[in-house]
Amino acid sequence: MRLEYLDDVDGKDLLELFNVPFDKEQWINFWENYSQSDTLVIYCAWIHSKEIDRDIIVGTVSLLVQNKPHSFNPTVYIEDLIVAPHFRRLGLGKEILSKVIEECKTYFPSKIKVSCEEDYDKFFSDFGFNKTNINMELSL
Ligand SMILES: CC(C)(COP(=O)(O)OP(=O)(O)OC[C@H]1O[C@@H](n2cnc3c(N)ncnc32)[C@H](O)[C@@H]1OP(=O)(O)O)[C@@H](O)C(=O)NCCC(=O)NCCS
Repeated sequence: MRLEYLDDVDGKDLLELFNVPFDKEQWINFWENYSQSDTLVIYCAWIHSKEIDRDIIVGTVSLLVQNKPHSFNPTVYIEDLIVAPHFRRLGLGKEILSKVIEECKTYFPSKIKVSCEEDYDKFFSDFGFNKTNINMELSL
């Protein structure tokens, strides 16, 4: 598996992972904003498919890097760590998360936060994540 920053990918392939329909105009708008953003880092995980002889996207993870006025090191929020349903339970999620943690240790050595479903408690705690605060949200 290779993990790379979102760079010149086919939006269709990426959005399939999120199970949302591809809209070319929206993608172009997103891409323009994304390339100017210094707070969002998106990675794509690729593997080579022998059947079609090309690399395919099998996962993704986004990092939101947030600077805080009271801390010199930003906090990193993991958002949308996703592995394509057909490729789950093969160790890809773990591989993506370990690479991202290593990268964060190098560039943002502060803390990583994630909000996830109860089911994934073990997945994250195996990496040393601890339960801290509760999450609350208000849908608008
Ligand atoms: C979370 C996710 C990325 C894991 O990817 P994956 O490639 O299947 O994970 P791995 O194969 O590396 O799994 C490693 C371990 O995580 C745990 N795990 C993974 N999926 C799990 C699930 N659905 N329920 C409970 N534990 C799970 C298990 O301990 C597993 O080890 P095991 O297979 O030996 O039992 C994937 O299930 C996914 O895309 N989920 C939907 C999106 C999501 O909710 N993301 C998390 C919040 S950002």
